Amino acid sequence: MERILILLLALIAQTDALGCMSPVCGANPANKVQNCDPNGEEICGKFNGRRSNNIRFAGLDLHCPVKEPIFAPISGILTYEMPFGGDPSKVCADQAARIDGTGQWQGYYAIITTVILSKYGGEVSAGERIGSAGNIECALEHTQQSNTNYVQLQVFREGKPVDPTNHFTDCMCTGQICETNNKNLLIGGFKGDSRFNGVKGVEIVCTLAEEDAETTDDIVTRAPVIYSPIEGELIGRKRLNFDQANRRYEGCENEGLFIVGTGKWTDFTVNLYNVRYRDDLGFGRKHIAQGQPIGYRLTCPKASNSIFVEVRFQGTVVNVTNQFLAKDCKLPDFGILY
Ligand SMILES: *[C@@H]1O[C@H](CO)[C@@H](O)[C@H](O)[C@H]1NC(C)=O
Repeated sequence: MERILILLLALIAQTDALGCMSPVCGANPANKVQNCDPNGEEICGKFNGRRSNNIRFAGLDLHCPVKEPIFAPISGILTYEMPFGGDPSKVCADQAARIDGTGQWQGYYAIITTVILSKYGGEVSAGERIGSAGNIECALEHTQQSNTNYVQLQVFREGKPVDPTNHFTDCMCTGQICETNNKNLLIGGFKGDSRFNGVKGVEIVCTLAEEDAETTDDIVTRAPVIYSPIEGELIGRKRLNFDQANRRYEGCENEGLFIVGTGKWTDFTVNLYNVRYRDDLGFGRKHIAQGQPIGYRLTCPKASNSIFVEVRFQGTVVNVTNQFLAKDCKLPDFGILY
């Protein structure tokens, strides 16, 4: 009973797209940054843009009126920080939220200034409300204040500032693909695989899911659930090798899934190997969201502890390793192929 419940939970779960962040400010779902100076001078709220104090800032100035709700961009542990270190002349702005990432965001932290927190610590999920926007320029003279208030977002990976822009806008990172691997850890890099007709792509670690047995202390295993890496139409079961002589498909490992991208993934197709279709989805084309459970890894005697994923853009195999690993959510330039 318990086992069935765990599996059901895994099937209902929809994973977040790896690497894509939730909007920070309620009034600014598009994560617009403060405008560049209309006079053509380079004073910008973008990453490393020159701010009005002439200093380049390794973060984003996101439009956000005072009192607007502020949401956690990533999941993690929330703490309160004083970004101006208690400077008496900046007390009114000296409140920030720091979130130390957990799960896929381990190794990252985000700081949002100025935020009046409604929660002072503990675990928060991406998209959860943590407070409201304060007035970041409250310490400046009225004439020096910007027309619109903003919050500053800084994101760090291993202590170094990273540009979060593409983690919000046009975020083209894939979702988590295998239930037992929440970071899409790879075996090797972008490569060919002779087991699947020499296709090129990435091999993603995908070990069996483990659970405690109901009655004994044993650990039992089951096939891990596979989630869709992109939004698209699931065409269903795919057989790789057709045995012409015997006029049938042979072999337990001879199975995969095929997805045709839709929405922002239009022009992409994805083949997943060592994966079987989730029969309970029924026959025919199915529209699927990114992160939706679509199948299971194979458990044939010779099935590897991994799955293989091939991605094509306009029919050509492409290397989107960084989008699988969420290192960069901006697509490489594949060139215009029309
Ligand atoms: C694939 O892309 C990754 C990330 O950009 C790069 O490091 C790697 O060298 C590429 N591999 C091939 C074979 O092009």
